[in-house]
Amino acid sequence: MSTTVVGDAVETGLEMNMLPVVQDEPAVEDLDLETTVGDISAANPRMICRNVDVFYDHGAVHAIRDVSIDIGNEEVLAMIGPSGCGKSSFLRCLNRMNDTIEGCQVRGSIKLDNQEIYDNRLDVVPLRARIGMVFQKPNPFPKSIYENVAYGPRIHGLAANKSDLDGIVEKSLKRAALWDEVKDRLGQPGTGLSGGQQQRLCIARAISVQPEVILMDEPCSALDPIATAKVEELIYELRKRFTIVIVTHSMQQAARVSQRTAYFHLGYLVEVNETNTVFTNPEHQLTESYITGRFG
Ligand SMILES: Nc1ncnc2c1ncn2[C@@H]1O[C@H](COP(=O)(O)OP(=O)(O)OP(=O)(O)O)[C@@H](O)[C@H]1O
Ligand SMILES: [Mg+2]
Repeated sequence: MSTTVVGDAVETGLEMNMLPVVQDEPAVEDLDLETTVGDISAANPRMICRNVDVFYDHGAVHAIRDVSIDIGNEEVLAMIGPSGCGKSSFLRCLNRMNDTIEGCQVRGSIKLDNQEIYDNRLDVVPLRARIGMVFQKPNPFPKSIYENVAYGPRIHGLAANKSDLDGIVEKSLKRAALWDEVKDRLGQPGTGLSGGQQQRLCIARAISVQPEVILMDEPCSALDPIATAKVEELIYELRKRFTIVIVTHSMQQAARVSQRTAYFHLGYLVEVNETNTVFTNPEHQLTESYITGRFG
């Protein structure tokens, strides 16, 4: 970056000694983004993604470029990076949510337990029960609190009878740290809860069908610090039985909840490493610039 500044200065005839001197940082365009640094592999992979590309608008926008990464069993993988770098695009590949976007194409291979999820013969409905998703904005169904959680287990045939279903609803709400707040008003609309409660309701809904993987796209961005802390505690608990991928703009959150962190930039997976390494000793110049707040 310094060279650009100095070059401009020379051309515009500005005094050199008035410019900040930053000599050791190469310009972004000079950095290698195509080779992911760190370690893309997980010891016990649940999902294996290889050479994934995502295009929008029938190919006009190339949002994800040749991304390969493993997602380990019972781990929390955090995905970070500047706005527009492709975090949500990549996350949506993992349960084929991009299928619902007109003009979106996904290339490459994504396997869940050695099964190719982009196989045409695969039914996406059970896939999305195995790989659940929680969105940035809580989106409860316009139904009661009870029904929001009971709906999935019912359509997937997970409850033999009403008392079974009641048990699943209670357990899911308890795991989502919401039960005590709603147990006396299960019949009331989910949309009547506070934002933080709605988000925990959506998490209860996601876990009620016993997914193997949970995808979370900035799940705390609309929450206050207390609700955020509850969701983070929940993520910590959930990791004991699920695999979680979380997109976050909060570096503190990534550091608190994840074991591995992936840094994206301009559609490339620039670095993936143990979370501790990413935040204390990043391998890539761009990761360092981002975590030290120089851009993003
Ligand atoms: N439905 C869409 N149609 C066209 N382009 C899209 C669509 N969704 C995303 N994009 C483009 O793909 C790129 C990556 O977007 P994406 O939403 O994945 O980024 P992000 O890292 O999640 O950003 P943010 O942090 O702001 O949520 C951007 O250039 C964006 O404009
Ligand atoms: Mg996003």
